[in-house]
Amino acid sequence: MDSTLDTAGNPRLEEIIRRRIEEKDGIPFSEFMELCLYHPEEGYYMAPGSRIGKSGDFFTSSSVHSLFGRLISRQLRQMWEILGGGLFTIAEQGAGEGHLALDILEGAAAEAPEFYRNLRYRIVEVSPEGRKRQAEVLGGHGNRVDWCELDDLEGLEGCLLSNELVDAFPVHLIENRGGELREVFVISRGEGFAEELRSPSTSEIPAYFERLGISPAEGNRAEVNLKAVRWMRQIGGVLRRGFVMTIDYGYSARDLFAPFRREGTLMCYYRHIAGENPYQRIGRQDITAHIDFTTLEKVGEKERLNPLYFGEQYRFLLGLGFLETLMEMQERETDENRARDLRLTLKNLIVPEGGMGEIFKVLIQGKAVGHPELLCGRPISEVVPPV
Ligand SMILES: C[S@@+](CC[C@H](N)C(=O)[O-])C[C@H]1O[C@@H](n2cnc3c(N)ncnc32)[C@H](O)[C@@H]1O
Repeated sequence: MDSTLDTAGNPRLEEIIRRRIEEKDGIPFSEFMELCLYHPEEGYYMAPGSRIGKSGDFFTSSSVHSLFGRLISRQLRQMWEILGGGLFTIAEQGAGEGHLALDILEGAAAEAPEFYRNLRYRIVEVSPEGRKRQAEVLGGHGNRVDWCELDDLEGLEGCLLSNELVDAFPVHLIENRGGELREVFVISRGEGFAEELRSPSTSEIPAYFERLGISPAEGNRAEVNLKAVRWMRQIGGVLRRGFVMTIDYGYSARDLFAPFRREGTLMCYYRHIAGENPYQRIGRQDITAHIDFTTLEKVGEKERLNPLYFGEQYRFLLGLGFLETLMEMQERETDENRARDLRLTLKNLIVPEGGMGEIFKVLIQGKAVGHPELLCGRPISEVVPPV
């Protein structure tokens, strides 16, 4: 059978969820999603197997090409210079297969040896399986890399980096019904699961929309990522001086909660096929939602994290020298087919429609660093000479 037609879930995890639902008489969708993705033994991210790349369920920018990490490495190097050029810690949370870390370290070693000598690369990774795979990939940089908890980063000077972490946090699902916020709870029905609308499980949900000064339109469904709010507070607390760079797909709140987005943005991925049903392939498919960058900015500001840059991934990469580096790589390439493949692969990182260029955004916040002009903010008019 075509494996993409197989909708069966992990029966052990389904049983665990069913028992939890019974004990609590229904659970908020966020708790269901937490169990699906992060149950310590059976969760999607915790079980062995590859999730990212061709043999997995989805691509990330770092799995598309090493140039992504190499360009980010240039931005990190400038941040190191802004901080005065001493010891610099890059703390990456949610490192997946470890490819972004590898490309950043290799980029630094090749392009800026002095920066590389001053680097410490710390990874915060919830999945033991992920940590194992990352350690294998990063073996060549062994003495520079270690794994820790977020709290161990207290007093951090450097940059806290993540790529597609926040979209993997469990979200609450809410609906606006008759002007009232209602929350989706998951209950058991027959062999499967069903949804029921109830009052919000926590006052943090209405507070989320009050902070934004917007609410979803009548009848609309939307996601509320309370974990992202707590995360931003926590990293604002541990960072003493430096930067937070968050790369992910998402929008400003106005766009994310726009009236036309009637069903919200929750998506599932299995073998590169996108689906909308989180109640199938339980524990075997990824579940994700677009992120709300406005909330990250607002919560960060309370922690003295000032927004320094917010833009689409294509602008960010062009600012860091995407085109110039692509041209250099092409000039070195002697095989015509490989040169074409290179162009097509890299196009994916910047193409707006159907690629990763526009839907992915980059937010950079700074603490105790003033208002430096970041390399990634180089205007496009300087990147592409007028014709
Ligand atoms: C979509 S993957 C990220 C991919 C990776 N950054 C890349 O560029 O390919 C999400 C990663 O975040 C990890 N993760 C999810 N929640 C986490 C948390 N609270 N703390 C640390 N890691 C987490 C997952 O185990 C997984 O490695």
